Amino acid sequence: MRSVSSVSCFCLFAYLLVAATLLPSAFGAQAPVPSDAPYKNPATPVEARVKDLLGRMKTEEKATMLSGSGWMESAPVERLGIPAIKMADGPMGVRSWAGSSAITNSVNNPAAKITATSFPSGVAMAATWDTELVQQEGDAIGQEVRALGRDMILGPTVNINRVPLWGRNFEGYGEDPYLSARLGVAYIKGVQGQGVIPSLKHFAANNEEFERHRIDAHIDDRTMNEIYLPAFKAGVQEGHVWTVMSAYNLLNGVHCGEDAWLLTDLLKKQFGFTGFVISDWGSTYSTAPTVNAGMDLEMPGGERMRNWMATGQPQAAGNGAGWLTADKVMAAVKAGEIHEAQLNDNVSRILRVIFESGLFDHPHPGGGEVDTPEERAVALKGATEGIVLLKNAGSLLPLDVTKIHSIAVIGPNAAVARTGGGGSSLVRPKQATAPLDWIKERAGDAIHVRFELGVGMEGEDPKLDKPEAREAELKAAVDAAAKADVAVVVVGRYPKLEGEGFDVKTMDLPAGQDELISAVEKANPRTVVVLNTGDPVTMTKWLDATPALLDMWYGGQEGGKALAAILFGDANPSGKLPVSLPKRFEDSPAFGNYPGENLRVDYSEGIYVGYRYFDTKNVEPAFPFGFGLSYTTFEYSNLRVIHAVTKSGTLKYEHDMVDLDVKNTGGRDGAEVVELYVHDGHSKIDRPAHELKGFKRVELKVGETKKVQFDLDRAALSYWSPEKKDWVAEPGKFEVQVAASSRDIRLKGTLELKR
Ligand code: BGC
Repeated sequence: MRSVSSVSCFCLFAYLLVAATLLPSAFGAQAPVPSDAPYKNPATPVEARVKDLLGRMKTEEKATMLSGSGWMESAPVERLGIPAIKMADGPMGVRSWAGSSAITNSVNNPAAKITATSFPSGVAMAATWDTELVQQEGDAIGQEVRALGRDMILGPTVNINRVPLWGRNFEGYGEDPYLSARLGVAYIKGVQGQGVIPSLKHFAANNEEFERHRIDAHIDDRTMNEIYLPAFKAGVQEGHVWTVMSAYNLLNGVHCGEDAWLLTDLLKKQFGFTGFVISDWGSTYSTAPTVNAGMDLEMPGGERMRNWMATGQPQAAGNGAGWLTADKVMAAVKAGEIHEAQLNDNVSRILRVIFESGLFDHPHPGGGEVDTPEERAVALKGATEGIVLLKNAGSLLPLDVTKIHSIAVIGPNAAVARTGGGGSSLVRPKQATAPLDWIKERAGDAIHVRFELGVGMEGEDPKLDKPEAREAELKAAVDAAAKADVAVVVVGRYPKLEGEGFDVKTMDLPAGQDELISAVEKANPRTVVVLNTGDPVTMTKWLDATPALLDMWYGGQEGGKALAAILFGDANPSGKLPVSLPKRFEDSPAFGNYPGENLRVDYSEGIYVGYRYFDTKNVEPAFPFGFGLSYTTFEYSNLRVIHAVTKSGTLKYEHDMVDLDVKNTGGRDGAEVVELYVHDGHSKIDRPAHELKGFKRVELKVGETKKVQFDLDRAALSYWSPEKKDWVAEPGKFEVQVAASSRDIRLKGTLELKR
């Protein structure tokens, strides 16, 4: 009996074993997933959930997860309850997710009708130097993503402004890695705090749009580490960002989406990134090499991707797509080109984010309110704090409503709300009012406001580009300016001249705008020029004659209101330049090494980007990095550099503390951005004149003094040694500079690194 029963037991066991080995997928597929499976339980730790769920997946199911199921959706696995991740473009708010910009830009397409709060452009938010505000922006965007039933926002953009002509400079946080890092981390924290998935983009060195799919950026190790990587590293290590988007371009000969060093060795292993890498839309060119390099999710996918590719246009531009489809991945797995362990890693990363973000347990059904008063308030605060007062001769600003009776509002950007640059970041707001509307509103009935176009925006309306039309518009503008107490000229670009997919042709303002400014200034010496654009522009033709100059960037839907608040003194300007404004393109550090030759661009200026170049090589910019005036004045005093050694556990943490007093010495309440730079005069290798290592925005009432404090650790003193392949801080004396701009150092101190 015993032997019979053990034989039948053995037979049953053997049968099960054979069935399980021969038909692993069918066996798994049919097995229902118990409702108490550990991965379904929110109380199970994330890693255990990932492991449990992954263990239940068939190889085919894993393979389907490596490419999108639509234009903006990852692939769900319904059998296991794995949701699709529903994405939307950003970073300046939520954009329609219906398809390529050909679809989302077309006014008549119902799919394009998604509206959301249009926040100020990245460069405008960077000009606030207000990390708290950027976090609030991330939080507000996260709320809107959820309200619209999406799960992920494609931002922030932290690529460095290397060249004044990059078509996407307006999206990023300017030229400095430290500032970009701080703001990128703040944005990520805001978005992730809402359980929404951000995507830190574009990794790495996407600094020009010229041939963006084919251009090969050649950058040395030190420059990568000191300039182009810090914002990504901080996003991973401090922001704990859930996803990173690879860039279109090639880096040192390899497409970023297929670069094992970049995606795996650096990002995942060195930086410790545990989330998933997503491709930029249409940036894959192979199956096994891409997956093995560490690409976790190819976008877009499915029918939308196939239809898009079928137009032929993406191939002509240099896009690649459709390489990580389930059939191709499975074929590569079967051929032994992709190992199951690799696939497990790719899929685990996506699952980890689905669990960590809360998406698995709390999907976003949508239906909430969008563009709430609170969200609008954040957009308005950003637009206001981001405006930079560059010149104010004779205190022309703020306008004194008791003294003026008429204002001439002039310019191609005065009566239209130019909220952002072109491309995937351009949000369609529910409402956006132009500078003219708010100037009128604020001026009230007692002040006569006359609007004249002055010049049509180049390329916008061919009728207005004709010489006769130009002449007539200019004449009317001059007449209006001559008859008014004050003239306000709003100039700049618009999405067709500045946007994704192409670089700006010239640093000069669009056709006729320089002439307009000069003519208006001649007619009325009380002229305020307002720049409404993302990139730096040449100002040499009129700057000397300009008494007052403001840079409002692209301020999002509330830009016009913010401008009026600054013009009339309801708000005191506190924005500072997150980018140096060169006098001419020829003066900019990358001139001569842009856009490259034969599809190769050498970053030969190395670490000398922005003020690192201007201040070290003594080239005078039109306005320096970190510069911005106020309607009040600030005094800096009592700088102290304190060497601190703190014991935490067994670790001895050494750092330096810098503190100083800042006083509002003028006649209005205001805010000052205090900047901290470090100068290393004793290093073995060439270092820039100084580098930004801290900043604080302080609000001060009239006569008020506040203590401002900074911490400086070893990292702040270090450079990347190509020889040691590591960060090095050389013992010795460092100069600590407290400054109001990179060229306005108010106080200096010394700190000594002993070892
Ligand atoms: C852009 C990305 C964007 C993606 C999806 C790409 O062309 O470079 O920034 O998120 O499209 O629209």
